[in-house]
Amino acid sequence: MSGKRILTGVKPTGNPHLGNLYGAILPAIKKANESDEPSYIFIANIHALNGVKDPDFLRDRTYAVAATFLAFGLDVNKSIFYRQSDIPEIFELTSLLMNYTPKGLMNRAHAYKAILERDGNDDNVNMGLYTYPILMAADILAMQSNIVPVGLDQKQHIEIARDIANSFNSMYKKEVLTLPMEFIEHQDSIMGLDGRKMSKSYGNTIELFATEEDTKKKIMKIPTDSLLPSDKKSEDSILYKLMKMFNVDAEYMKNFIDGGIGYGDAKKVLAETVNNYLRPYRAKYNELMQNKSQIDEYLSAGAIKARATASETLKKVKQTLGLIG
Ligand code: TRP
Repeated sequence: MSGKRILTGVKPTGNPHLGNLYGAILPAIKKANESDEPSYIFIANIHALNGVKDPDFLRDRTYAVAATFLAFGLDVNKSIFYRQSDIPEIFELTSLLMNYTPKGLMNRAHAYKAILERDGNDDNVNMGLYTYPILMAADILAMQSNIVPVGLDQKQHIEIARDIANSFNSMYKKEVLTLPMEFIEHQDSIMGLDGRKMSKSYGNTIELFATEEDTKKKIMKIPTDSLLPSDKKSEDSILYKLMKMFNVDAEYMKNFIDGGIGYGDAKKVLAETVNNYLRPYRAKYNELMQNKSQIDEYLSAGAIKARATASETLKKVKQTLGLIG
């Protein structure tokens, strides 16, 4: 996809799991590494602030997101990799974009609406959460990005960014801001350990960087019925579906269905398969987390480049508005 600028951000709010990897992280790395021009990949630490108030946690999770991208192969020689908070131009642009964003557009944002429905009012919604989509639009528009790889849950946010850019350009009758398009590689989500969609809020995740022991413990708790090892098993069971998802040996799976293997044994094999897959990435991640100054170096180098791009955009925007000559 030549001539298209790729951009994406990930919020440092928790322990990354396989659902994040499949939905957002791997598609973004793939797109970034394939692109002819530098991609913009960043850690959205200001976006995390509407919920995260623990500074040590935020600092640590910021490194964790960075180490995740690096461990899974983001090429930092090709991509521009940075912390959102290192780019003040993004916040300046956010303030300006406020004036082109109708309140009604924010009222329709899914995350805000969900709280409003839950609480019956929005008294406890902080303005960081309410204006989250404007900050996200500034992330995207500051870098004049064309393609934004995201998980399915972020589609609306990219549409909002496009709306804001479009109203801005129409108002001034000039193509000042590039209209971004979302890129959603998978329309489905990965299944969690309880059969529902894998999500932190369901507590059914396989964490990328948990220990092998903890991963195994969680997998051993996958719900099963009371069939005996010698009973024939259903291909509809959660355990079987997960075994398939992780490409457990085909003959072993057939044997399991035919009544040659019990649930406990199958879970052990699944745990081993998952741990085998994750082992090299975990090693790389742990090595990086021991060497945070290396991560800082990458992010600082990225910030210099990202700031250069964002300043250019900001200059154009300010000229358009009549703030500078
Ligand atoms: N809102 C995104 C999420 O929760 C993170 C994000 C912030 C982002 N800014 C972005 C994603 C800009 C893509 C582009 O996952």
